[in-house]
Amino acid sequence: MEPMLSQIDAAPPDPILGLTEAFRQDPAPDKINLGVGVYVDDQGRTPVLASVKEAEARMLESETTKSYLPISGQPAYGKAVQDLILGPDSAVAAAGRAATAHTPGGTGALRVGGDLLRAFFPGATVWVSTPTWANHPGVFAAAGLARRSYPYYDPATRGLDFPAMLAALRDVPAGDVVLLHACCHNPTGVDLAADQWAEVAAAAVDRGWLPFIDFAYQGFGDSVEADRACIQPLLDAVPEALIASSFSKNFGLYRERTGALTVIGGDAEAARRTLSQVKRVVRTNYSNPPAHGGLIVETILADADLTAQWRKELEGMQARIAGVRAQFVEAMARRAPEADFEFIRRQRGMFSFSGLSDAQVDWLREERHIYIVKGGRINVAGITSDNLDALADAVAEALQRG
Ligand SMILES: Cc1ncc(COP(=O)(O)O)c(C=O)c1O
Repeated sequence: MEPMLSQIDAAPPDPILGLTEAFRQDPAPDKINLGVGVYVDDQGRTPVLASVKEAEARMLESETTKSYLPISGQPAYGKAVQDLILGPDSAVAAAGRAATAHTPGGTGALRVGGDLLRAFFPGATVWVSTPTWANHPGVFAAAGLARRSYPYYDPATRGLDFPAMLAALRDVPAGDVVLLHACCHNPTGVDLAADQWAEVAAAAVDRGWLPFIDFAYQGFGDSVEADRACIQPLLDAVPEALIASSFSKNFGLYRERTGALTVIGGDAEAARRTLSQVKRVVRTNYSNPPAHGGLIVETILADADLTAQWRKELEGMQARIAGVRAQFVEAMARRAPEADFEFIRRQRGMFSFSGLSDAQVDWLREERHIYIVKGGRINVAGITSDNLDALADAVAEALQRG
């Protein structure tokens, strides 16, 4: 009989990480990477934040053991996460209705949440926006859950199709799960306004579906406070929710795999019971979380000076992205005044849907060494003073070619 592993076919390459690989292999000196969702500064680097370096220096001095963390991580980390995502004066947290598990990144949080849902609600469907982060469907499929999608982005307005979204969410059956991006929607950069969040909250309450909030970009939209204020009406209204946090972007901890799953229960007892089941999911998967990234976040958020330094660095990243959006819009207005790129200024976070067709995306890669994900999503943070003009020239030419 043929050996087992030799019967396995190769998997297709990951669409986004595959593009990064192609970028790496491109020898052109002036190549531009607007593909993968990693923040870069104006020099094109993804540096370790100074607040992170300082926290690590302190950890090197004070760390006394490498023994296992608790299955759900350190309670101090869970508390720091809740203060960040719910706010220090959260009524939900004060009532003990929130319980947090430290997970390997936001992806780990989504998958642990998916596994939990699959264990207790195997018939539940997870609803994701059209479009959504390319990994969302795969994560929930791997957990064994059915997926469906609700309308979100309107290519005609390059904005939100809120009436269609709301109509779909008003039809989601009780017992299903709706995945919502808290802010800086990936891949479109199109977010809900405060009054729209209130209507989504009302739909969740009326219909009885469970919101699963993906909070991967806190601080990249407007600020730590303003970004969490977006989801506040929802969290105030619904009895229960799941929140996946990622600190990959806002602490620049990508490879340290640092995130959290927070469960909001109807009361403190329900939150505790749910967390005990989250711990079972973790125990049989990766047993307990990796310590390093979590300890960095905990160390920064426990110290007023480090917190202030981190916030300044986060504000710097947010401001650079907002600035680059404006520069790109102005650069395009000079080259292609008939094409309206104002939407890039309105969209938030690291990503925008550029409106470029797949043929234009291919042409930009093959002829100009500019790497953009199929579908036209660009990582705005990949634009720098050095590449802005070349990029705008190339996009204007691509538009002319049609
Ligand atoms: C919307 C969204 N959710 C979750 C994640 C996962 O982040 P992490 O690297 O922390 O797993 C990302 C990362 O790109 C994302 O864009």
